Amino acid sequence: MFNNDFHHNVLERHSVKKYDPQVKISREEILDMLNEAVTAPSAFNLQPWKFVVVDTDEGKAKIHDYVQLNAQKTDTASATIFIFNDLEAAQHTDSIYEQAVTEGHMPQEVAQQVTSYIHNVIDPIPAERMAYISRVDTGLVAMQLMTVAREHGYDTNPMTGFDWAKMPEVLGIDPQRYSSALMMTIGKAAEEPHTSPRIPAENITDFR
Ligand SMILES: Cc1cc2nc3c(=O)[nH]c(=O)nc-3n(C[C@H](O)[C@H](O)[C@H](O)COP(=O)(O)O)c2cc1C
Repeated sequence: MFNNDFHHNVLERHSVKKYDPQVKISREEILDMLNEAVTAPSAFNLQPWKFVVVDTDEGKAKIHDYVQLNAQKTDTASATIFIFNDLEAAQHTDSIYEQAVTEGHMPQEVAQQVTSYIHNVIDPIPAERMAYISRVDTGLVAMQLMTVAREHGYDTNPMTGFDWAKMPEVLGIDPQRYSSALMMTIGKAAEEPHTSPRIPAENITDFR
């Protein structure tokens, strides 16, 4: 059932605009995919992301008016996964490094040094700067999720075309803590996706 062909999963990925609305993905499988996606790297391993999965008719109706020109995608996809930047991810520090010790990834003394370093560096950073920093991390987890979805036989479309400012409230999460990064539809393509051109690396790369 899994497709581990790198070429298929990565190099033949295309954004899909129309999905087969009959295809449902179980919540268990969505959580499996998210657990694979969160093996992505993040600064200090703080994992500053939060997911809200919209997979019910009620949820789809709720977001419909806030997704601009992307409603055909969110209406037909099995689910739309919203990825938010967690601006208070520094709160994860202690539990993540305790887990690192418990699971044998590092000794207690090292974990203590790292946690105090992280608190000194991260705690004073203002929310808007954290939003900028954590956007790199959420971009990485989003890319990994798209690849994992291909492994599971699904297609995706990453999108920022939605009401960023209102979405935390629409989805009932704390707008002070979570800032919108992107949304991603997931499902089975109902038609062949378009291919798209790329600027050759030779044109945008300098060697020194
Ligand atoms: C940050 C970001 C925002 C995007 N926003 C939208 C969007 O709002 N609507 C849409 O249809 N596609 C959106 N896309 C998809 C791009 O148009 C698409 O990735 C690009 O044209 C390349 O096509 P491909 O994904 O098929 O390779 C977005 C992609 C990214 C990475």
